[in-house]
Amino acid sequence: MAILPIVQFPNPILEKPCADVTEITTDIRQLAADMAETMYKAPGVGLAAPQVGRSLRMIVMDVSEDKNNLMTLINPEIIEVSEEVCTGEEGCLSLPGIWEKVERHTAVTVRFMNLEGEEITMPAEGLLAICIQHELDHLKGTVFIDHLSRLKYDRACAKLKKRRAQAAKSA
Ligand code: NI
Repeated sequence: MAILPIVQFPNPILEKPCADVTEITTDIRQLAADMAETMYKAPGVGLAAPQVGRSLRMIVMDVSEDKNNLMTLINPEIIEVSEEVCTGEEGCLSLPGIWEKVERHTAVTVRFMNLEGEEITMPAEGLLAICIQHELDHLKGTVFIDHLSRLKYDRACAKLKKRRAQAAKSA
């Protein structure tokens, strides 16, 4: 396994829709393992393939407290959403240090293929539902700050720029 570099926003790969995974090959299994290792190391609760430079519809997630419930979702689709929405603070490994409130559906049902090629339909709520919506956005070429008002979006970008300039100075 290997820890992969995480693509930082803004980057064109984070802005384009990803392609379906057509076959679960050795390469895909390796990518899934590397993405999981990268996510745990960061640490984060979810990571989408474009965030490690691969424009493929694939995500890894683990929202468990003990970090022992790894899920790999291949070609995931949200097939049902609750009418009820909730607002929570979100962050992203591609935009470190930025935390903003985003409105999401409280519950979703996601259909995906696992690494064994089995089709799974899974209802989700709470943090898992939010994480699914956040990660699936990445597969569409959307990042969480795209959901913000223009003003808040610009403010987040400015903050990110400032953080990077400071990091570069202290490096
Ligand atoms: Ni993200």
